[in-house]
Amino acid sequence: MKNSEAVEKRRTFGIIAHPDAGKTTLTEKLLLFGGAIQTAGAVKNNKIKKTATSDFMEIEKQRGISVATSVMAFEYSGKQVNILDTPGHKDFAEDTYRTLTAVDSVILVIDSANGVESQTEKLMEVCRMRNTPVIIYVNKMDREGKDAFTLLDELEEKLNIKVRPLTWPIGMGDRFKGVYNLHEQNLNLFQVNKTKIAEDIVTIKDLSDPTLDEMIGTSFAEELREEVEIINGVYDDFDREKYLAGKLAPVFFGSAVNNFGVKELLDTFIQISPSPRGRDTDMRFIEPDDPKFSGFVFKIHANLDPKHRDRIAFLRIVSGKFERNTFYTHVRSDKKMKFANPTSFMAQDKSVIEEAFPGDVIGLYDTGNFKIGDTLTEGEKLQFKGIPSFSPEIFMELENLDPMKSKQLDKGIHQLTDEGVAQMFIMQPGNRKIVGTVGQLQFEVIQYRLINEYGANCRFTPRNFTKSVWITTTNQEQLESFKRAKANYLATDKDGNMVFLAETQFLLQMAEQDYPDITFHKNSEFK
Ligand code: G4P
Repeated sequence: MKNSEAVEKRRTFGIIAHPDAGKTTLTEKLLLFGGAIQTAGAVKNNKIKKTATSDFMEIEKQRGISVATSVMAFEYSGKQVNILDTPGHKDFAEDTYRTLTAVDSVILVIDSANGVESQTEKLMEVCRMRNTPVIIYVNKMDREGKDAFTLLDELEEKLNIKVRPLTWPIGMGDRFKGVYNLHEQNLNLFQVNKTKIAEDIVTIKDLSDPTLDEMIGTSFAEELREEVEIINGVYDDFDREKYLAGKLAPVFFGSAVNNFGVKELLDTFIQISPSPRGRDTDMRFIEPDDPKFSGFVFKIHANLDPKHRDRIAFLRIVSGKFERNTFYTHVRSDKKMKFANPTSFMAQDKSVIEEAFPGDVIGLYDTGNFKIGDTLTEGEKLQFKGIPSFSPEIFMELENLDPMKSKQLDKGIHQLTDEGVAQMFIMQPGNRKIVGTVGQLQFEVIQYRLINEYGANCRFTPRNFTKSVWITTTNQEQLESFKRAKANYLATDKDGNMVFLAETQFLLQMAEQDYPDITFHKNSEFK
């Protein structure tokens, strides 16, 4: 296959949501449409939210399941759809943020009763950093939720993006009748349907057609006519260019568990979503049709079996063609590497592939060479940008409980932070290791894995920091004075960048005021 054809054929995206909004359910329905699975219930819930945080077996299970279902590919309408899964649990949010660097667009699932939730806002912030195109799916219309107009206003306000409904709900909860497709001008009537694909679509070209009254009753028909008039008055026509620029989000309504409104979503997604896009590097922007192969690692997964220390690195292909058993340059170490068993991830199945194209994600077996953010090329020394680290929310100092095992501990914590389980900051004097995460759960994962995989025993002591910011300046004098004043709050990250650990938001603001020539960066993507 020619590269340009392969690129045009692919759609690589992620589904994101606040936990419980219906991400897993929607993913499953999309796979059902794509023929990747035959019946509902085949995708296991990739989450651990309902278990006690100390249930390590569950953590292990989660890690295993999420390898298998990390990338799901299927063909639909002549396109190859690659869905990149993102962990639902908020403690794994960083993993999700990184996965978002490997997609070209996202579908954001909202619970119609809860509207925009905390995790929804954070995920959207990450999408906005790279102007990722977003489609919104308002789920659970079969339950009583917020009024659709109120929801649209809330989406615009809290997510800071313009919206444009492309379907419109008729009633909700017990009175939910279906959705009207504003674009195609047809009506999809609701029926409870958990396993099959809904096919009852009635085409109503003219809303004044009395068939509408017959189908949904006069009062619903009247309401729909009025609302559609309002929508067409208030919202501009859907503009694909604005969507592709990340400025406008089309909105769909439905009920994922009932497989409702999902086909409209998928069909439109296929039509409007972007094919694989290029990525920026420290040298130049790489277009997907660049003939030379390049790609970057955005996720590393440890092997489930503790006896085998090998890991799987997830590589997103940006340009050219990846081929099995071909030497590529690992830019950071300047080493040549070839891969005998690169895998693709098709639903639950992992299989060895011969070649892969831009937009594809492949798994590479790794014995510890890869770090998140690493670049592979045909030899060019360039580094992809944009695998940011964000400020952790919980900080703890790592203490070694077994002096005989300090080497193992060192190795373990370095490998785990390379995998992105947590961030590590080194403080002086004494090379103290401060580990930062977004959730408590990671500390349990780290402690468990250090013992089980490295034989190292450790303890975490809470440290009073709430934020880490990366600092840069050209004013050397101010930097020296800052260093003297804040010696106890300075650390370096894994790349040796200087980081200020602030105890409170207020102290951070004070520092910003007192040192106006120093820039305090909220994430590590400042270079
Ligand atoms: P997540 O991955 O975003 O965390 O959400 P998930 O799909 O697991 O859905 C969370 C809960 O919401 C599930 O119920 C699921 O069945 C339900 N759900 C999803 N879509 C709809 C919908 O359209 N309408 C209604 N009424 N419920 C929906 P659960 O009780 O937590 O799990 P389960 O026992 O049903 O699996």
